[in-house]
Amino acid sequence: MKIIMLGAPGAGKGTQAKQIAGKYNIPHISTGDIFRANIKEGTELGKKAKEYMDQGLLVPDELTCDLVVDRIQQDDCKGGFVLDGFPRTIPQAEALDAALTKLGQKMDYAIDVDVPDENIVNRMGGRRACINCGATYHIVSIPPKKEGVCDTCGNELVLRDDDKPETVQKRLNVYHEQTQPLIDYYTKQGILKSVDGTQPMEDVFASIVKILGA
Ligand code: AP5
Ligand code: MG
Ligand code: ZN
Repeated sequence: MKIIMLGAPGAGKGTQAKQIAGKYNIPHISTGDIFRANIKEGTELGKKAKEYMDQGLLVPDELTCDLVVDRIQQDDCKGGFVLDGFPRTIPQAEALDAALTKLGQKMDYAIDVDVPDENIVNRMGGRRACINCGATYHIVSIPPKKEGVCDTCGNELVLRDDDKPETVQKRLNVYHEQTQPLIDYYTKQGILKSVDGTQPMEDVFASIVKILGA
């Protein structure tokens, strides 16, 4: 099963993608996580990506597309994968389609996790992330067992650099301009499904499972 997660920053793409990956036993591929891992390791890619990410802007397509196209051809992707945060522009979606066509494959679902802008700013201020294992929490709705500490790996939890309110607003603007057109793009392909992302996390997941089948 090959799935794309669409949705505004903070809509819950990562939260849901991790659960989908677990249930259907497919890799979770998050371009944001890949960039953050590169920033942490101080790679060239990380240095370039950071300039854009800290401003709430998209990393250029030429740094993003090849990375994903290579990733989805690795062995662990043979049974499918869930893409989180990619594609984010029409050129990225076209690059993905072109790569899949060459491989004789196509995407099965694009799931839009729909959350209005008003809810987003709140969520982001409360998000805490583990930069070691990628787990995500929220200080109110999904708190870790011990404040500031990752349940999974015991590492320290941090506020992401791009979760400051001004940057969140910028990311939302970028989303509406560059990413939202993908909803039309996948509607035309007949694979778009929408879920109400304002529900509690478990209910959002149940709606997704209903779409994908148990
Ligand atoms: P990326 O890491 O993809 O960030 P994003 O799209 O802005 O989305 P987030 O990760 O912030 O939110 P999410 O939807 O995953 O929500 P989450 O599950 O964490 O990208 C970061 C940056 O990298 C971009 O700005 C860009 O610069 C660059 N980049 C990445 N991919 C790129 C690409 N393809 N092209 C170009 N540039 C790219 O949930 C948010 C919070 O809400 C959490 O605290 C969570 O616990 C909580 N929560 C989740 N679900 C619920 C719920 N149902 N109810 C209540 N709280 C909930
Ligand atoms: Mg995410
Ligand atoms: Zn962790």
